[in-house]
Amino acid sequence: MAKGPRIVVLTGSGVSAESGLSTFRDKDGIWAKYDYRQVATPEGFAADPALVHDFYNQRRRLLKGIAPNAAHVALAELEAGLSAAGGALLVVTQNVDNLHEKAGSANVLHMHGELAKARCGLCEEAGEWPGDLSIDIECPFCGVKGAMRPDVVWFGETPKYLDEIAGALARADQFVSIGTSGAVYPAAGFVRDARALCIPCTELNLEPSDNAGAFTERRYGKASEIVPQWAREFLAE
Ligand code: OAD
Repeated sequence: MAKGPRIVVLTGSGVSAESGLSTFRDKDGIWAKYDYRQVATPEGFAADPALVHDFYNQRRRLLKGIAPNAAHVALAELEAGLSAAGGALLVVTQNVDNLHEKAGSANVLHMHGELAKARCGLCEEAGEWPGDLSIDIECPFCGVKGAMRPDVVWFGETPKYLDEIAGALARADQFVSIGTSGAVYPAAGFVRDARALCIPCTELNLEPSDNAGAFTERRYGKASEIVPQWAREFLAE
């Protein structure tokens, strides 16, 4: 079979906004209500673990009642279509929700971790965690109480899968960024990495991101509208 196109898609909170999850930096976003230093840094967790658990418990509970939107579905369908044609689609998401998986995407890397997983800060073992976390919980792996934390990446910590992402970009024919403001690195730098490799780069967002000028193609509107439209056109080509 001839080799089909390989796409790397980077997603941010804008892709989940129409499923009912808040973005971070929009007017009513999460960082307008919470100080990220208190709830999304190792120092914040050390200072007040109960506050941090409460923040992530609230967000984890939201996962149960939400469904993927047309943008997530279009990406899952595009992955299946490309795979059938000998190509591939990798979703690299900054999101800690599970909506790409719920939509049927199989090839997903959560570079900022996952809300539905917990990790022990002592033995570093991680596993599925659908319920609440608290300082009273014992690690199911090493038995120590009080060190369980959400398996998410906080500010000041290294994102996950950076080697895999660099490898996928090196093999990609197209890079697409969806629903992210381009404010947080290293994700915000992927477009420049891709351009250095001469890969065409498309931005699909509600409004121009901080990196809009680095993209070779830009489309603006709601993810639920512009992602399916772009995916249809890409498959038709
Ligand atoms: P931001 O809140 O910074 O950006 C969300 C982007 O989505 C903005 O550019 C919006 O214009 C766009 N947007 C909003 N609604 C949309 C819609 N319906 N369709 C398309 N686009 C829409 O969120 P992220 O870029 O995801 O990290 O933030 C990146 C990281 O910063 C997060 O992973 C999180 C945060 O702090 C950590 O917590 C470590």
